[in-house]
Amino acid sequence: MLHTDVVEILNKQTAIEADASHAYLALASWSEERNLPGIAEYFYNAAEDERSHFLELVKYINQHQAPAIIKSVSQPRSSFVNLLEVFLYVWDLEHNNTLNINNVAEVCLKSKDFATYKFMEAFILEQQTAEKDVEDLIHMIKTLGYDDKNLYYLNKNFKKLVDKAGASPEN
Ligand SMILES: [Fe+2]
Repeated sequence: MLHTDVVEILNKQTAIEADASHAYLALASWSEERNLPGIAEYFYNAAEDERSHFLELVKYINQHQAPAIIKSVSQPRSSFVNLLEVFLYVWDLEHNNTLNINNVAEVCLKSKDFATYKFMEAFILEQQTAEKDVEDLIHMIKTLGYDDKNLYYLNKNFKKLVDKAGASPEN
């Protein structure tokens, strides 16, 4: 049986992961609309990752006899001036998620639920990698430029990133 505070914060986190998945889908649409399929694919993959986090949390809550509450998702942002603005938004999204995951971990420790804390460790480490990856992409976008003519090359670079991720053993 999970502590009620842990159940409450885990349920809150499921909604955050579902919102993040939707936010990435909106960014995939933004990219496809601008004929940037490599970048769109990157966002479709990110949406899948967030959905898998959502499902992992839902299943964990249910497996511990505390029914997961499935909430409606929020309307994601879909209007951006350029690709740099998109990725600065992505950084905010990931950073906020890091803060939320840290809150979950804190409640687990306060409630002495060390097993759920252990379960959350993968989420904590993944957030650290996610923030670093987005920082690298922002650096790449700033370096290569994000005018219309540069978007062609950026899109090709994203395609390479997606292909590389697909070929790595952990996927
Ligand atoms: Fe996530």
